[in-house]
Amino acid sequence: MKIFVPPIKCQGIKTKLVAWIKENLSDLKYSRWVEPFMGSGVVGFNVRPQHAVFADINPHLINFYNAIKQDKITPAKAKFFLETEGKKLSEGGQGYYNEVRTRFNQNFDPFDFLFLNRSCFNGMIRFNGSGKFNVPYGHKPERFAKAYITKIINQIDYIHKAVKVLNWEFICSDFRTTLSNIDNSDFIYCDPPYFGRNVDYFDSWNEKDEKDLFDLLSNMNGKYILSTWHSNKYRSNNELEKYNLNQILTKEHFYHLGASEDNRNAMTEALILNYFPVNNNKIINKPDYNRQFQFFEPKIEYTAK
Ligand SMILES: C[S@@+](CC[C@H](N)C(=O)[O-])C[C@H]1O[C@@H](n2cnc3c(N)ncnc32)[C@H](O)[C@@H]1O
Repeated sequence: MKIFVPPIKCQGIKTKLVAWIKENLSDLKYSRWVEPFMGSGVVGFNVRPQHAVFADINPHLINFYNAIKQDKITPAKAKFFLETEGKKLSEGGQGYYNEVRTRFNQNFDPFDFLFLNRSCFNGMIRFNGSGKFNVPYGHKPERFAKAYITKIINQIDYIHKAVKVLNWEFICSDFRTTLSNIDNSDFIYCDPPYFGRNVDYFDSWNEKDEKDLFDLLSNMNGKYILSTWHSNKYRSNNELEKYNLNQILTKEHFYHLGASEDNRNAMTEALILNYFPVNNNKIINKPDYNRQFQFFEPKIEYTAK
């Protein structure tokens, strides 16, 4: 399956899980796709629903996609911008990167957000306590080479074309607001920050958030998938216990930190579903609707960039 990779990257991007998530959606009928934690949007963008609400608390992500919707960002404008700014980066290196970052933190221009996201360290999105983007330079002055610009332009083109023919809304809102505006025929895909992992301005997550999300999901009548982590070498996710009336599906990933084989780490991801995925023939235990079940996908490997 060819996976579309979005123009803005973020931590926790679920590119590797798109096929698995889509598998568990097959045959499902819903009127609207609602994604309260859109991040990069990779999941919904690949599901490509006719009607979708992509929401996030980070206004810069939402501004970027609304700028594409409103033709403030088009493939042609982005090409010109990246060629011009890329040339300045190759001449000015770190100094020029810092200049754009200062400019972004004053004006919050979505073009600058794209520039920073694609030239910063590890393609991260991180904001300090005052809401200022603070990711350091990725130290690649030739970052915006011709092939790389073409790749980004194609990614923007995909979204630019999609928003012309599909009914996609991009909304800056807290998940509590997003989830209070849904109805039973909506499908909800939730991918919140992992509890206790981040302290970012837009990306922190605490016990209250965890509880509020659980309460909202438990009290709704529509169908949902919640992405979370199941376990790693050191610990298991205790938060899963409260979803014990749901279907919990797991998949093990291996990722490498650095080049060494010794740094090979296993992480088991989880999908929590409040419905039985009809077309899934990989379930290893016979479904017993009153009990939690699990099934395991083949192990897959990838290298973290
Ligand atoms: C794990 S990321 C989502 C990744 C996304 N599924 C992807 O594949 O790229 C979590 C997202 O939740 C957003 N977020 C954090 N707290 C939020 C809140 N209270 N309400 C809505 N969005 C929130 C963050 O800004 C971040 O983009």
